[in-house]
Amino acid sequence: MSSDLLIRNGTVIDGTGALPFRADLAVSGHRITALGDLGSVAADCEIEASGRIVAPGFIDVHTHDDHALLNRSMTPKVSQGVTTVVAGNCGVSLAPLVFDGEPPAPLGLLGEGAYRFATFGAYVEALEKRPAAVNAALLVGHSTLRVATMSDIGRPASDGEIAAMGRLLSEALASGAVGFSTGLFYPAARAAPMAEVVALLEILAGTGAVYATHMRDEADGVEESLAESFETARRAGVPLIISHHKCMGRRNFGRSSRTLELIDRARREQPVGLDVYPYTAGSTELLPELIGLASRVIVTWSRPHPELAGRDLADIATLWGVDEAGAAARLKPAGAIYFMMDEADVQRIIAYPHTMIGSDGLAHDEHPHPRLWGTFPRVLGHYVRELGLLSIEDAVHRMTGLAAAQFRLADRGVLRPGAFADIVIFDAAVIADRATFEVPKQPAAGIDLVVVNGEIVCRDGQQTSARPGQVLRGRAARQDA
Ligand code: ZN
Ligand code: CU
Repeated sequence: MSSDLLIRNGTVIDGTGALPFRADLAVSGHRITALGDLGSVAADCEIEASGRIVAPGFIDVHTHDDHALLNRSMTPKVSQGVTTVVAGNCGVSLAPLVFDGEPPAPLGLLGEGAYRFATFGAYVEALEKRPAAVNAALLVGHSTLRVATMSDIGRPASDGEIAAMGRLLSEALASGAVGFSTGLFYPAARAAPMAEVVALLEILAGTGAVYATHMRDEADGVEESLAESFETARRAGVPLIISHHKCMGRRNFGRSSRTLELIDRARREQPVGLDVYPYTAGSTELLPELIGLASRVIVTWSRPHPELAGRDLADIATLWGVDEAGAAARLKPAGAIYFMMDEADVQRIIAYPHTMIGSDGLAHDEHPHPRLWGTFPRVLGHYVRELGLLSIEDAVHRMTGLAAAQFRLADRGVLRPGAFADIVIFDAAVIADRATFEVPKQPAAGIDLVVVNGEIVCRDGQQTSARPGQVLRGRAARQDA
């Protein structure tokens, strides 16, 4: 017996949540062929992994990488052990939309001049023609559909507009989308009532596609927004994922005890999942409604003032002799980091057994939130090793097997013969995030090897030239449907 790649003597954490065990792992072509004592197997490439963890590559379930994937290298993700990204979150997907100029918030998150694909199929085709280093599972964004079909996004969609959005959504599902996302908090979708979202979600029912939502309110109205999200998904009969769960603003600190209780209760009636990023600061476009909730605001990019990326909004206001609202108005369009969550809430949400990990990283920001480069190593280094908040096999499960199950990604997220060879090898004693709020573009420590579909994409911190990523199609677009 011979294989292409053999990883010897590693401590395997297989992604199912099972305890670590000692094993060799063989890969042929795109898939894992054997796992166990493989002493007699020969291979073209052998990796010695004693003292190291061998795990499924991480699945970043909450990203805005739609546009970044077209640049292919995906270094911020590959360098932290991510092998699959779920893009199209928060109501924003790159397709289907052709748009010139400055789009309404938060569509600017995908970078300048991003919207160039009139159909979802054309975007998928572009990604498959020139693949990225990582796999991509794609959501269709509600706000993207609104901007594509409505003359005025400041009101609920008419029946005709819902039908037009529905046609685009059906095309996207047929082209491979794995779900639909909303960002009801944002100007582009705030005017959409529950009925508009339910009408669109009904197209997903029975396809296995999921509904991911950046809720209408993650601050004072977080409980009401959870209730709205549960009801919306229940009415349409689709699985729900609460995006980047958090309780924003000092007066809401501690409320995650209650929100997790509500999620627990809803889970008895319907499928509900959630994700989180391991930081007390959020990041999105620079929006007046968030400035007031934050104890500190850092500017991440500004179209008229690119030189001020990385500076505190308060300092810029002082410099200009105006208040923060005035400074923000002059900086826009712009992005920001907002310190507005409670560490105890972040820890409680990470520790909740059904929580997945999603970076929410913003690849086009001049001075990005450190979550872009640091999310997964931060959970494994800071929260697992340093704080002991959860076990390593549990953390890996939330980053891999659980994520694949929730997004219905077939043969991903677990190490077993027959599964795709998406693999990360790391040192549990060393793994750590090095990206900080001051110096955010820093690769993590402790990642030895990253394999995507059987090909090595990163070795000892050096990215290779391999770009083996696949578009992971939803069931509606698969032959095995
Ligand atoms: Zn969001
Ligand atoms: Cu997001």
